[in-house]
Amino acid sequence: MSFPTVRNRRLRGNAALRNMVRETVLDRGDFIYPIFVTHGHNIKDEIPSMPGVYHFSLDRLEEEIRDVQAAGVESVLLFGIPEHKDALGTSAYAADGIVQQSIRAVKGWAPELLIVADTCLCQFTDHGHCGIVHVHEHTGEAVVDNDSSLDLLVQTAVSQAAAGADVIAPSNMMDGFVLAIREGLDEAGYSDVPIMSYSVKYASAYYGPFRDAAHSAPQFGDRKTYQMDPANVREAQREAESDIAEGADMLMVKPALAYLDVLRMLKQNYSLPVVAYNVSAEYSMVKAAAANGWIDEKAIVLETLTGMKRAGADVIITYHAKDAARWLRGEE
Ligand code: PBG
Ligand code: ZN
Repeated sequence: MSFPTVRNRRLRGNAALRNMVRETVLDRGDFIYPIFVTHGHNIKDEIPSMPGVYHFSLDRLEEEIRDVQAAGVESVLLFGIPEHKDALGTSAYAADGIVQQSIRAVKGWAPELLIVADTCLCQFTDHGHCGIVHVHEHTGEAVVDNDSSLDLLVQTAVSQAAAGADVIAPSNMMDGFVLAIREGLDEAGYSDVPIMSYSVKYASAYYGPFRDAAHSAPQFGDRKTYQMDPANVREAQREAESDIAEGADMLMVKPALAYLDVLRMLKQNYSLPVVAYNVSAEYSMVKAAAANGWIDEKAIVLETLTGMKRAGADVIITYHAKDAARWLRGEE
C-alpha cells in the first residue's frame, strides 16, 4: 500500500479540530505589563524608541491602570524614573521614592492588580550601574562591589514590600542576591512575598530602548562583569541552580527571543515557573516594522508570544500585553 499510515493533515482540516489539538494556548493571565512612572505633574510622554509606551506622572497613572484593567491584564511591573540620582541610588529605597509612591497609589485604585516591583539600583544611581561600582584599575571595566550593593538591594526590596508590592523582582544578578533579599524580607515580616529572580540576564543590546526610557545607560563601562555572556547556556544553569538554592520562587530569562533555548532548558530541568522578559528592543523592532507596513503587527506579536510560551514560558513580561490581551478577546 502506498498510503502513509500517519497523516498529520487529518488533524488540520477543521477549525474545531485544530483548536482541540492545539498544544499551546496564550492567555491574558500569562502577561505582565511594564509601566514607567516619573515625578512631575500631568505627564504622559511617549518614549520615542518605544511607540505606545509612556512615562506617566503619578497624577496620570490612574488612567493607565484603568486601561490595563480594561484590556484584561492582571499584573504590572513598575519602573521608576527618579528626580534625584546619586552614587548610592538613595531614592531606590526611600519610603517616598517614586516606585514606593506608585505602588501605594496603584494598590489604592486597583487592589486586585498584581504589582511586581523591579528591584535594582541602575535607574537611581548617577553612574547608571546596578550597584555600587568601582573601576578596575587595569582594565577600566566597571566592577560592582557585591556585598555593599547587596545591603542596598535588600533595603530596596523591603521598602517596596512595605509599600505593598506583591512580588519582588531583583534584577542586578549579584552573587547571593536572592538569599540576601529572602532573609531581608523574612526579617521584615514579608515572608509571603515571592521573589521573581532575573536569574538569567544576558549582557544584551536588546535593552537599548529601555535604557533611553529609564535613563539608565551606564555612564562608563558596561554590564559585562555582572550580566551574562550571550554565548553561554551552561552558565545559565548554574545561575538558576544558585537562585533556586537561595529561595527564588520564579526564574526569569531576559531577553526572550534570542534565548528561547535557555527558556526551554530551565523548563526541562527545574520545576519553578519560568518567566520570559520580551524586552524593549524586541518590542521596538516589531513596532518599527509595523509602522512601515512591512509586517502584520497583530499576527507577528501573537506568533512571537506563542513561541515564548511553547519554548517554556509560564509568564511573559511584555510591552505588547495590553494589545495582545485585547486581540485574544477578539478585539481589533
Ligand atoms: C534594570 C533593568 C533593565 C531592563 C529591565 N530591568 C535594563 C538593564 O539591565 O540594562 C531591560 C528591560 C528592557 O529592555 O525592556 N536592571
Ligand atoms: Zn539594574
